[in-house]
Amino acid sequence: MRLPCLLLPCAAFLLAVTALRAQPTSEAEIEIAVEKLLSQMTLAEKLGQMSQRHYNTKSLTNPADSASAVRNGQVGSFLNPDSAETVNQLQKIAVEESRLKIPLIFGIDVIHGYRTLFPIPLGQSCSWNPELIEAAGRVAAIEASSAGIRWTFAPMLDITRDARWGRIAETLGEDPVLTSRLGAAMVRGFQGKNLTAPDSIAACAKHYVGYGAAEGGRDYNTTLIPEAELRNIYLPSFHAAKEAGVQTYMSAFNDLNGVPASGNVFTLRQVLQKEWGFDGFVVSDWESVKEMIVHGAAADLHDAARLGINAGVDMEMVSTSYRDHSEALLREGAISPAMIDDSVRRILRVKFRLGLFDNPYTDTTRPSPLLTEESLRVARELATQSIVLLKNEKFLLPLSPDSTKTVAVIGPLADSATDMRGCWSCRGEANECRTVYSVFKDYVGPKGKVLYSPGLKHGSSTDTAEIAAAVKTARKADVVILCVGEPHELSGEARCRAFLDLPGAQDPLISAIAATGKPIVLVVFGGRPLTFAKAAALSQAILYAWHPGTMAGPAICDLLYGRANPSGKLTVTFPRTVGQIPLYYNHKNTGRPVPIDPKAAQTPLGTAEDPKGYYSQYLDLPQAPAYPFGYGLSYTTFTYSDLKIETPDANGVIAATASIANTGARDGVEIVQLYTRQLVGTLTRPVKELKDFQRIALKAGEKRTVHFTLPKQSLGYYDNTGRFLLEPGKFHLWIAPNSAEGEPLEFMLTQ
Ligand code: BGC
Repeated sequence: MRLPCLLLPCAAFLLAVTALRAQPTSEAEIEIAVEKLLSQMTLAEKLGQMSQRHYNTKSLTNPADSASAVRNGQVGSFLNPDSAETVNQLQKIAVEESRLKIPLIFGIDVIHGYRTLFPIPLGQSCSWNPELIEAAGRVAAIEASSAGIRWTFAPMLDITRDARWGRIAETLGEDPVLTSRLGAAMVRGFQGKNLTAPDSIAACAKHYVGYGAAEGGRDYNTTLIPEAELRNIYLPSFHAAKEAGVQTYMSAFNDLNGVPASGNVFTLRQVLQKEWGFDGFVVSDWESVKEMIVHGAAADLHDAARLGINAGVDMEMVSTSYRDHSEALLREGAISPAMIDDSVRRILRVKFRLGLFDNPYTDTTRPSPLLTEESLRVARELATQSIVLLKNEKFLLPLSPDSTKTVAVIGPLADSATDMRGCWSCRGEANECRTVYSVFKDYVGPKGKVLYSPGLKHGSSTDTAEIAAAVKTARKADVVILCVGEPHELSGEARCRAFLDLPGAQDPLISAIAATGKPIVLVVFGGRPLTFAKAAALSQAILYAWHPGTMAGPAICDLLYGRANPSGKLTVTFPRTVGQIPLYYNHKNTGRPVPIDPKAAQTPLGTAEDPKGYYSQYLDLPQAPAYPFGYGLSYTTFTYSDLKIETPDANGVIAATASIANTGARDGVEIVQLYTRQLVGTLTRPVKELKDFQRIALKAGEKRTVHFTLPKQSLGYYDNTGRFLLEPGKFHLWIAPNSAEGEPLEFMLTQ
């Protein structure tokens, strides 16, 4: 099926465009242009702008329907168009045949790359590298815009403390400060320096708000978040996106404290519009306006539209309650004309800012920017920096082609290109992803040998028939690279898991390989923290690789062979077992914290000798996580000393310094983390809060002083009435390699 044949050569498109209104160049001119246009619009045209349709092959079965909807001004946006040609065809109808010639805006989920795939966002965050993440966002924008996409539904800025939630893969970790910094970098990368540039795409901060707090880690589930927690943990990253100039937000699926996020006057009108002064637009999530009926918050579509419009959800994704019910709602006075105008004004403003009125078409003659050498370089670098070295017994890594002649690459994920992509892989193609096995021969040297055996047909397979062959392969090798973990389809939206163990028969495979006595380097892929204590104990080295994207294999092999030195650090706490969840580093102390007593730590919990006491703990598990937030090793070692707080009276800014020395034999990068704790507060305060970080490159043997300056304001917090408190008193401050190490200094905050 085809759309009516409207495709003209590009030059003709461009000529036609000159007939359109001139692009206003300043914000003031944009406002004038918006008002002028608004004053000419009928109600139906306004509701058209507030409607987003899904473009799919089904809508192609009736192309006339899409075309006539555009012609009649009944649609303002499409999501998921399949090509620049489609975009140009629909755009041509909008800007030449519709009455007011308002261009469409086309969006898609460019989450971690369009065609060149970067690591999943959770992986990217482990680089703690805003500049590189921004560069990846830029590549993604350049690629996506070449297909007519001028809007991505990213970055995802949700905070979660629950690895069961499949969408943890899309987050930037559990910390609000880190998520804010990296999320803002993504916004800058997508939107570029100039929004009107044809390769800039509008970003969308989602899912506003609280979605990651889904009870039990079950997608779409209820969230209950007190206001203080909402403002201190869940809102800061969304605010940082606003400060970075994000043009759109997406209202979430969840109900928040009993009010669906897509009908939430408090979060949308009060916080986003009034407090933050956001002037772009809010799109609902997929039918999340309609789903307010299922939530039990709206009686029917009529009621759902009323809630959405009143709350300030400006554009409805896919469902059509606005289109079908607004006229009646206006007649009844249940919504006001001013609300409709405000929504349309916001949408038009963003379209003007993107330069769509002046330049609605996609230039299909420009050379393809997909998978360029530079894009692949950024992808390889980001994948390398996102991978975390969790263990390296007796410096098994890096491997040397001289001493490690025969390598066995084993495991169901060793050559699974599909699984390298991860969730939300947009237009990334599996056959363009390089697996570990596919590139290994480039690393072993001329005399080296690579053997391969998957051991299991698929990551989730329970069929153990091929394990024997893998064991045979392992026996012939000097070292085994064992590639295990979570296949991509277990991660992402609606991919929640009650157990976080390695799926299928991966544990029996690992045990069988370990029984050969060969040294094992475990490479774990996944969209979330997995629980793999047994496999970890059987391995001498562990790289946690997430789902690394197009350049998975080269990045992993660069690390295995020391062409790159691991620098990634975890941005999420790894539980020992699912029963510890929620487990996060910035928790409260409680009235009964487990005492830090090394003797007690050696006593098996839950045994007769266990001096249990009445503490906040489990009887059958140590309190500590498997790996703490901020943790990650390098092939070199770093030592921290001379922590100083230079302005202990803290009037103005707090300045802190520490000396970091590279005490190993290799150059490396250390991610230095600054944490504080307010000892006494009107509300109880977390035991640690990340306030700042720096990535520093140190040559072998080099020592450097790192300087941090903290604005006093960063020590404040919100209470449950929305009041910001900056309270004088004692604070602790750490400069440390992760959230579990280091000794603090004390300082006083004075008013
Ligand atoms: C997801 C959003 C996404 C939207 C459009 C929804 O199911 O929750 O994150 O942007 O679909 O694809």
